[in-house]
Amino acid sequence: MQTVLVTGGAGFIGSNFVHYLLGAEPQARVINLDALTYAGSLENLVDLPAPERHIFVQGDICDAGLVESLFQQYEIQVVVHFAAETHVDRSIVDPGAFVRTNIQGTYTLLEAARKAWSAAPQAPGRTFRFHHVSTDEVYGALKPGEPAFSETTPYAPNSPYAATKAASDHLVRAYGHTFGLPVTISNCSNNYGPRQYPEKLIPLMIANGLAGRPLPVYGDGQQVRDWLYVEDHCQAIWTVVRRGVPGETYNIGGGNQPPNLEVVETLCAILDEYQPAAPYCPHRSLIQFVADRPGHDRRYAIDMTRIQQELNWRPSHTLASGLVKTAAWYLANQGWVRKIQQQESYQQWLARNYSQRGDMK
Ligand code: NAD
Ligand code: TYD
Repeated sequence: MQTVLVTGGAGFIGSNFVHYLLGAEPQARVINLDALTYAGSLENLVDLPAPERHIFVQGDICDAGLVESLFQQYEIQVVVHFAAETHVDRSIVDPGAFVRTNIQGTYTLLEAARKAWSAAPQAPGRTFRFHHVSTDEVYGALKPGEPAFSETTPYAPNSPYAATKAASDHLVRAYGHTFGLPVTISNCSNNYGPRQYPEKLIPLMIANGLAGRPLPVYGDGQQVRDWLYVEDHCQAIWTVVRRGVPGETYNIGGGNQPPNLEVVETLCAILDEYQPAAPYCPHRSLIQFVADRPGHDRRYAIDMTRIQQELNWRPSHTLASGLVKTAAWYLANQGWVRKIQQQESYQQWLARNYSQRGDMK
């Protein structure tokens, strides 16, 4: 058995990763540490392929005592660190939560991992790995015509979210360089797919579209992201954990870079097909251009050459195939969406983020 500590495994990518890992690796046991913030839910962990190999621990990655006790109690060989505050718009409203979890939390985990790893020298054939899941947003924004982000692009984070992720990347790298802790980092582009909290662009548009609510597009909608289907991302992470070189960084992208407005229009066309009789069909009539995000990064794009050439990984979904699968999941799981929509905290977030933006039409 290989014991893998997954942090943030009740959130969007983390829960998809837990599903993926338990299905793909019969020898993996998962210790899933998650604080269950607004973004995490145990509902994301129902129907796991092998629930007997999954242990859920509700707790905070900033709690050093708890984190150290997990390393002592379980023979953890691999850490896959997802837990973070992740929404750029929330980081503009409340940066403090991002500094705490993303920086202090990563430091706490690194310290506990370092203690456990240096106290127990590795037996032959046994390896230790601390894998840190990060974002392409640490590189800042690309100007038109500038080449895509590679692993050597200088860091230039623009939002408080990106700045705290950049800080955590630097800490991870420093623990590798200074203490020899076997670390890897992956910087990936925007994910989408099942179980993404409906505050991010794609699930928000699907959830609002299904409910006949406005689809708020920031600014002119011409910002560009490099969309990656979450299952492809999970596969890439596990490839890096198994075959990536300690101390190295790998960029992961989806190879799909349409402007936001095109993504929203594609989703509207998919919803039109799914519910042609809806009173608000065509769904594109729900699109509203609203005030832009302060400091909004205009364009991201990932150069995947390293992971393709060195680890032979490439994404298997196009944006078209991934969006159809994603919309189908949200349609089949409308109870999951409605529960979130009914939460007061979610309604408060929508009011806070959108009521001031107005309708630019
Ligand atoms: P998410 O917001 O959906 O989930 C985050 C999870 O972390 C939640 O389950 C939450 O309960 C947990 N969490 C938050 N604070 C915690 C704390 N202090 N202690 C323990 N658990 C805590 O996030 P996501 O979209 O799944 O992102 C996961 C990781 O991937 C993050 O590190 C993020 O920076 C990175 N990433 C995300 C994207 C994306 O498009 N979503 C892209 C690139 C990188
Ligand atoms: P988001 O999903 O928040 O991810 P990120 O900011 O990390 O890239 O946003 C993706 C893009 O969609 C980004 O350019 C902002 C834009 N956006 C909207 O136009 N309207 C919205 O309501 C949201 C949440 C995002």
